[in-house]
Amino acid sequence: MKLAATATLRERQEELGQFLTAPPVADFMAAMFGPLPRTVRLLDAGAGAGALTSAFVSRCCENRDRVHAIEATLYELDGEILDKLAATMRQCERRCYEAGIRFTFTILADDFIQVMSSRLAGDLFGAPPPGFDAAIANPPYRKISAGSGERRALRSVGVETSNLYTGFIALIQRLLVPGGQLVGITPRSFCNGPYFRPFREDFLNQLELRRLHVFESRKAAFRNDSVLQENIIFHAVKGRRQPREMLVSTSSGEQGDDITEAVVPFAEIVHPLDVEKFIHIPASAGHATAKETMDGLSTSLAALGITVSTGRVVDFRLKEALRKEPGRGTVPLLYPCHFNGGTVHWPKVEARKPNAILDNAETRPWLVPSGTYLLTKRFTSKEERRRLVACLFDPDLVKAKWIGFENHLNYFHANGHGLERHVATGLYAFLNSTVVDQYFRRFSGHTQVNATDLRTLTYPDRDTLQAMGREMATPDLTQDEIDQLVSKHLHARR
Ligand SMILES: C[S@@+](CC[C@H](N)C(=O)[O-])C[C@H]1O[C@@H](n2cnc3c(N)ncnc32)[C@H](O)[C@@H]1O
Repeated sequence: MKLAATATLRERQEELGQFLTAPPVADFMAAMFGPLPRTVRLLDAGAGAGALTSAFVSRCCENRDRVHAIEATLYELDGEILDKLAATMRQCERRCYEAGIRFTFTILADDFIQVMSSRLAGDLFGAPPPGFDAAIANPPYRKISAGSGERRALRSVGVETSNLYTGFIALIQRLLVPGGQLVGITPRSFCNGPYFRPFREDFLNQLELRRLHVFESRKAAFRNDSVLQENIIFHAVKGRRQPREMLVSTSSGEQGDDITEAVVPFAEIVHPLDVEKFIHIPASAGHATAKETMDGLSTSLAALGITVSTGRVVDFRLKEALRKEPGRGTVPLLYPCHFNGGTVHWPKVEARKPNAILDNAETRPWLVPSGTYLLTKRFTSKEERRRLVACLFDPDLVKAKWIGFENHLNYFHANGHGLERHVATGLYAFLNSTVVDQYFRRFSGHTQVNATDLRTLTYPDRDTLQAMGREMATPDLTQDEIDQLVSKHLHARR
């Protein structure tokens, strides 16, 4: 990766995915390691100014009797931070000297992804990959496009992933010796979502998850993302089977804040039958209750004869056919901005988004026949209380033969057609209930709701959904009213 010479500090940091770890978080991470060998070969990939190695060294110096020598290898691409990194390593040297620990370090101003991919791939004349007993990491976080050099390099060692951070973790995992430990802080996004499935499989096949820690507060998210992105810290060990139970802890991320800990069966973290291998994190009492309720449900969406799909109209691809206002030859085009409480408010001419799309041979494949549909937002704003926001599309309120659902929403349908009305209103209540929102938060730490997420949920059976739906005179209920209605029907069926 090459940086433009004229880039501002902010641009440089974004390009490099550079967000440095605060010392209390680094100390917390260093304290997660289990017993270490006498000589520790330590890897710090994407080392920044060295906060993580420094915390690791401090921990070893405090537990004097165990570690005798630390051999640190640090990769850092940003030439402008290397002086600071070297200064931190000299401090580590001094601390270790005083504690009677031999400390050596090697700073490599190289691209970790490129260098390690080619060494792991065994490129001709290349040095074989090194082995490490411990790795501590806050890897850079940035999307990597399908044709990028990083993607090609990672692909050469069988790693298919769309973010730098998962690429880093996948390579680090490969460099650990059996029994080697990794403590990492990353976004929580790898825990769900279809794109991270190959990464989750690789990670869970090769590493034993020992502990997970989640920061619940938005303030603790030190990554400057446009979407809310919770961070997670994990401790994992190479080459061991998954434990029967593991430690899950949470804190708000504020300094000095209480940490809540729970020992949770591993089968509750990754459900044994889940092909997607979602990583659930029961972070609060509400999450536990939600799990209990959802465990009582066993109907899949497929068994209900319902499918959830992402809105088919990708607006920039059909630009010529979009219209600000409805007119001759157009049909309604719905965006999340048309959600209005529980129903659709259309047209919304004051909105910046188009309200209509031409109905012609080019656009028809992307339209759906009118009917009762349940819609959910794919992205909620940080300010929204709920992650799952469902809304009813009622064909009596928006009259048209065909409708366009835009790509920022998901829609529930029956084989491409509308749903039976009471099933749709029942689904509306269920998906808008607190219990489902809490359950969703067990496996998703960000504001994006994928169709796969909705597909993996279990649902009430058809009779229960219909009974819920019949009782909903109007979608305009308060959260309490929705929760009471859903709870009453879910308990009645037991
Ligand atoms: C999220 S920061 C964390 C820095 C440090 N580990 C910490 O916790 O404070 C990630 C670091 O990785 C560096 N980096 C980004 N891409 C890299 C690459 N391909 N190879 C090596 N370092 C890289 C960035 O310059 C940045 O300093």
